[in-house]
Amino acid sequence: MAAAHGGVRVRHVSKSFHVDGQAVPALSDVSLSIGMGEFVSVIGPSGCGKSTLLKVVAGLVDADSGDVTVDGESVKAASAEKKIGLVPQSPALLPWRTVLENVTLPLQINKSGNEGRDLRDPKELLEMFGLGKAMNKYPMQLSGGMQQRAAIARAFVFDPAIMLMDEPFSALDEMNRDLQRLALVDFWQSNRKAVMFVTHSVPEAIMLSDRIVVMAAHPGRIAAIIDVPLPRPRTEATYATDEFRDLEGHVRQVLRDQMEVAHV
Ligand SMILES: Nc1ncnc2c1ncn2[C@@H]1O[C@H](COP(=O)(O)OP(=O)(O)OP(=O)(O)O)[C@@H](O)[C@H]1O
Ligand SMILES: [Mg+2]
Repeated sequence: MAAAHGGVRVRHVSKSFHVDGQAVPALSDVSLSIGMGEFVSVIGPSGCGKSTLLKVVAGLVDADSGDVTVDGESVKAASAEKKIGLVPQSPALLPWRTVLENVTLPLQINKSGNEGRDLRDPKELLEMFGLGKAMNKYPMQLSGGMQQRAAIARAFVFDPAIMLMDEPFSALDEMNRDLQRLALVDFWQSNRKAVMFVTHSVPEAIMLSDRIVVMAAHPGRIAAIIDVPLPRPRTEATYATDEFRDLEGHVRQVLRDQMEVAHV
């Protein structure tokens, strides 16, 4: 029954922060659905509320108004059932634990609630994200990109139905970024998760997504939702197609329009 409302549903969500007595409207009347098996990217200028939106869906920030359901349930219930995976904008690894110990930690903390749950092998996940040789190192011995990949692996241990990723590849070089994109798409296609993926890269958003949500700032809101009808699997050759270039031009134009409106 939950499947009918599976995935993520965000309805009329608003959220303001109060800083020095002033309200900062981080999200204003945001509505968005992500179906199971759908990959949706969120793009927009710094400060437009992308991370705040992800945190509201993850249950880390309470909205002032509006309603969010995850897999047909409240965020709180879905989160308690470990249906939501989050890769935060900064990796937040514990410095005194090795990479493997960091990735294994969520399983240890939740030991009693894990029976009957699909769990993934932390070592396999680390291999998948290219950290097989680094699993016994400590976070400070890794590059920023490797720490990011460890945080991605950690988010997958409960095999969550909903994956929320906040610029997970931002610290990776171009080569590794391409590899990790492919690994993520492979993984997503074989697991049919609902993915909400924040990025600043227009080509990355197009390459990965079924739809792209373009946000605007002041107040943070959805400016446009753009379909990406490119066939899958998408490969290196996809970048060179006219369809890809047309879409890229379109997304950039929508982003530019929003910036211009903001500066008038
Ligand atoms: N905990 C907080 N307290 C006060 N203000 C906050 C808090 N979190 C976010 N904000 C403000 O809310 C707005 C949206 O922030 P958010 O982090 O969601 O932006 P973002 O789109 O993720 O930006 P970036 O691309 O730089 O990561 C900004 O104006 C930010 O300063
Ligand atoms: Mg952010």
